[in-house]
Amino acid sequence: MSAGRILVVEDSPPSIQALVGVLRDQGYQVHVATNGRKALEKLDSIRPDLILLDVMMPEVDGFETCARIKASTEWCEIPIIFLTSKTEPDDIVRGFEVGAVDYVAKPFHAHELLARVSTHLAIHRLRRENERLIRTESELARHRSVAQMVAGVAHEINTPLGILNTSASLLRNWLASPVLAALGETREGQAMLEDLRDAGDLITRNAARAHKLVQDFKKVSVHQITDALEQVQLIGIVSETAHLFQVSNRESPLEVKILNALPDQQGTWLGYPGSLSQVLLNLLSNAQRYAYPGGAAGKVEIELTGDDQRYRISVRDFGAGIPPENLPRVFEPFFTTGRGQGGSGLGMSIVHMIVTAHLQGEISIESNAHKGTTVAFWFPRRITEPDHAV
Ligand SMILES: Nc1ncnc2c1ncn2[C@@H]1O[C@H](COP(=O)(O)OP(=O)(O)OP(=O)(O)O)[C@@H](O)[C@H]1O
Ligand SMILES: [Mg+2]
Repeated sequence: MSAGRILVVEDSPPSIQALVGVLRDQGYQVHVATNGRKALEKLDSIRPDLILLDVMMPEVDGFETCARIKASTEWCEIPIIFLTSKTEPDDIVRGFEVGAVDYVAKPFHAHELLARVSTHLAIHRLRRENERLIRTESELARHRSVAQMVAGVAHEINTPLGILNTSASLLRNWLASPVLAALGETREGQAMLEDLRDAGDLITRNAARAHKLVQDFKKVSVHQITDALEQVQLIGIVSETAHLFQVSNRESPLEVKILNALPDQQGTWLGYPGSLSQVLLNLLSNAQRYAYPGGAAGKVEIELTGDDQRYRISVRDFGAGIPPENLPRVFEPFFTTGRGQGGSGLGMSIVHMIVTAHLQGEISIESNAHKGTTVAFWFPRRITEPDHAV
């Protein structure tokens, strides 16, 4: 892996040669732009980790180039070191004012240049890492507080639901009693009894539905609060989860096929197996419910691939697909097209949160009407630092 990408912005060929030689020797990937305008044009394709910028250049000079880079939201974080033969204090101060992090006087000493480059690259990396951790932490904190609230509300709703159930069975018992049976001897009485029975049934059915929803909410939120970091065989977790899905959905005609194309066949993963299972279970149940609605038979392929840094898992169905207008919304909390079938719309938002915040990965979704849906996610082979998910 390269030690970092550096963009050298310099117009003098001897200086370019010297700088490129010294930097390449240290393993840096070096790109050159011979003036400020070209440097600005190249930023998008090079995406440098650091810029070495000459002050004196034709067209757009170093100060101007630096000011423009710092004014853009996309590039303003890249550290810029000025290369200057002008060691006048005014120029140095001006360099810092337009946003440079440091300067190196020309003619430069290789050791000094390399020391400054590696220090600023290290500071920049640590800063980015720090920002990522803060983002992850706040994302997890937000999710934990939602999970705790959901668990709390679910618990509170259980008590009134219990009372509803007890009252409904009391109603049923009374309606069956011989005292009330006498009422059925008149036509009005009979109609009244039927209405009461229907009302009782409605209360019982809906209380059961609400109870199921509350249990699902509780499960989801509790799972979020208890998963532990472990070293596991990735294929093992994936097969166990697919098996668990099939066992717990015996009536489901979904055929789940696992394609293991990992380079070393037996990839080990240091991560959160509970969370990975939860992601897969959500995707499988979506395939069953939405790709092949009404209990239709269908196939799902789970494919495992990866390189020496990351694993990739894709879950693909060949069913109904997601309409283009819904696709951007599927990761939104509470977005669902299955409210009538018990969908709460939390599944995909939880999947997204787990993959990006907990597994430190990325996720994407593709879908075509009548051809099917593929959800693919990448995550590192090792979680890089303990994350405080509990
Ligand atoms: N494989 C799929 N095929 C077709 N549509 C899908 C698929 N996966 C998700 N969807 C669509 O995305 C919506 C959101 O999915 P999500 O898992 O977040 O919620 P849900 O399944 O409706 O409810 P929950 O997962 O909370 O029980 C679904 O309602 C459905 O419209
Ligand atoms: Mg779902």
